[in-house]
Amino acid sequence: MLADVARGLSREQKELPPKYFYDSRGSELFEEITRLEEYYQTRTERALLEAVMPHRVQEHRPRALVELGAGSARKSRVILDAMVEAGCGRLFVPVDVSGDFLARTAARLREEYPSLSVIPRTADMTDPLETSNGVPRPAWIALLGSTIGNFRDADARNLVGGVARTMGREDRFLMGADLKPGPGKSVDRLERAYDDARGVTAAFNLNVLSVLNRELGADFDPARFRHQAFYNEERERIEMHLESLVDQEVTIPGVGVTRLEAGETIRTEISRKYDRQDVQGLFRDAGLEIEAWDEDERGMFALVLGSKRS
Ligand code: TRP
Repeated sequence: MLADVARGLSREQKELPPKYFYDSRGSELFEEITRLEEYYQTRTERALLEAVMPHRVQEHRPRALVELGAGSARKSRVILDAMVEAGCGRLFVPVDVSGDFLARTAARLREEYPSLSVIPRTADMTDPLETSNGVPRPAWIALLGSTIGNFRDADARNLVGGVARTMGREDRFLMGADLKPGPGKSVDRLERAYDDARGVTAAFNLNVLSVLNRELGADFDPARFRHQAFYNEERERIEMHLESLVDQEVTIPGVGVTRLEAGETIRTEISRKYDRQDVQGLFRDAGLEIEAWDEDERGMFALVLGSKRS
């Protein structure tokens, strides 16, 4: 963590790795984001899952679901319900960086799904995936919530490539992607999803500073920073930053002193937006192909099912 933070803060554009957002409080705040009126992504993806999962699960009869970045696994339930309904589901493996949060999720799921084994794995989803070990096939690997957008292109390719290497012909990769602005989706609408009126996303963004204070003994004063979110048209991504409100110095033991000028920012997250062609390219490089593409009628969000390219 120290090395990650030191590296990020020494860049020309200072940055912090987003995985440190998700301590217990961060995970709770993120759950709240997913319930915001402005954050259309979660309910749009959920509606898509409800519309297509019963059919697709019937068709493939997956025995296992491995979900990368499962969080509270609220959307996984739609898939798990379909798997139980179809009588094929055996195992659910939720993978998440937030261990406490994951353990609570797993305990709840075991009660709700007595017929399923639930084996949580606390891991960074980019660590080598051993999804093939002991997982009954066919297996589905899911990356929902447009989490793919939070990776730089090269990292997204590595991640999907890694997933694809664990997959056999009978397995599937299920991915949720937030789509680019278009006729049914203004840039303003997109930006508001990352800058809500109640300030939940702002609190979530600022919480990373408290994580650094607690974990590394840093002396960030969150009151001296402001949440910022905007669509970068050229790079086709939302960027989230913490803007320094004053000239200041922050000390992190083991890293040293970081100077920030008033108006200077630390980038904390990117959320890249996709279209079908982008996903096709991403899949192709990983040795996958799009088997099914479902999007809502306004073109806000897409659910993509991928299989090994034949
Ligand atoms: N995968 C989500 C997205 O890009 C993550 C996210 C939503 C997020 N809101 C956020 C990340 C606010 C950081 C801050 O849409």
